[in-house]
Amino acid sequence: MGKITIAVDGYSSTGKSTIAKRLAAALGYIYVDTGAMYRAVTLYALDNGFIGTQDDISGLVKVLPKIKLKFVPNTETGRSEMYLNGKNVEEEIRTMKVSRQVSKVAAIGEVRTKLVEMQQQMGKDKGIVMDGRDIGTVVFPDAELKLFMTASPEIRATRRYKELLDKGEKVTFAEVLKNVQERDRIDSTRSISPLKKAKDAIEFDNSDMGLEEQFERIHEFAKRVIAKY
Ligand code: DC
Repeated sequence: MGKITIAVDGYSSTGKSTIAKRLAAALGYIYVDTGAMYRAVTLYALDNGFIGTQDDISGLVKVLPKIKLKFVPNTETGRSEMYLNGKNVEEEIRTMKVSRQVSKVAAIGEVRTKLVEMQQQMGKDKGIVMDGRDIGTVVFPDAELKLFMTASPEIRATRRYKELLDKGEKVTFAEVLKNVQERDRIDSTRSISPLKKAKDAIEFDNSDMGLEEQFERIHEFAKRVIAKY
């Protein structure tokens, strides 16, 4: 049986990464969270004064070669974690501070070119589940299986809110909902690689379904597709 490429795209907090991660583990495939890459570049931009009260996008573009990203598996959990210039930033990239600015950074063409190239390199041997916004449309337009995840903004904000509270962040539900809606708007209206469903992607809505149940369905479906190769 051959290995395939699985693209998982969709809106933020639709459970994409949960499903993609489990699918990769079940199939023995590599899992890549491309959102972590955009988040790490955003953290670098914040830490180095390229975004914030005043933005210096051209300055950020100039220093892009200095930004080294790497996924390193955690020896205890086996989960891969994001390293930015040698430092583990897995926790920091998930904070609201980064979420507030990430769509802006993800709309920069030069940032996308750099990250898309890295992603294509990671997936060149197939056997990969990659989650993001443009995986089925831009990164791997020939992926054998494309999933597009959706859920209502309220459901997504509720999930995200719980996650942030669990981590001890002081946020209000209203702020999280606003961030989810704002990111949807920026991500789907930007001029370069906007978030949109690939023509041949299969849409899964989990507004009324637990992720566990949905994972089972997707796993069965993926196995049937893989059997063809
Ligand atoms: O999946 P996430 O919420 O961690 O992604 C963070 C941001 O990065 C999201 O607002 C959109 C952007 N992104 C993107 O533009 N393209 C990708 N392939 C992945 C993420």
